[in-house]
Amino acid sequence: MITQDLENKFNQHINKEIYSSYLYLSMAAWADHQGLRGFSHWMRVQAMEELTHVSRFFDFLTDRDGRARLSAIAEPPHDWDSATALMEDTYQHELEVSKGINELVSLCREHSDHAAGAFLDWFVKEQVEEEANVKDILDRLRIVKGEGQGLLMIDQELGARALPSYDPTLGWIGNTR
Ligand SMILES: [Fe+2]
Ligand SMILES: [Fe+2]
Repeated sequence: MITQDLENKFNQHINKEIYSSYLYLSMAAWADHQGLRGFSHWMRVQAMEELTHVSRFFDFLTDRDGRARLSAIAEPPHDWDSATALMEDTYQHELEVSKGINELVSLCREHSDHAAGAFLDWFVKEQVEEEANVKDILDRLRIVKGEGQGLLMIDQELGARALPSYDPTLGWIGNTR
């Protein structure tokens, strides 16, 4: 059974994951408006993937005789100056989420809740991947100075990102690249 304190903190984190999805969907809308279909597609996949993270937290709380409680989602920004600014915000946001996961890990240690700690291991690794993927796009945007043909090439690449899939035994399989 999970303690009330941890349950509350996990629920706060669920809100962060849902906000992530909301933020990326807002970014997809901006990208569509700019004619950056690949960026929009990548952001939509990212938004879906964030919901698979929510699902993991939901299931874990249920398994531990806790309960997911949903709270209000903040309004995300709607405008960015460029594709580079968009990805910079994405990177900063992922760094924030990583910080949140790290805080949860520390809290689980304080509570000696090793089951919760083991559950969070997946997220620790996932955040390394999330940060690396975004940093990679950001680096390549810098090489092409975020414009022209280089930008269109990156847009095309991002348009090829695969959707996350659900396997009845393995659960959600996020395809992040
Ligand atoms: Fe996430
Ligand atoms: Fe994420």
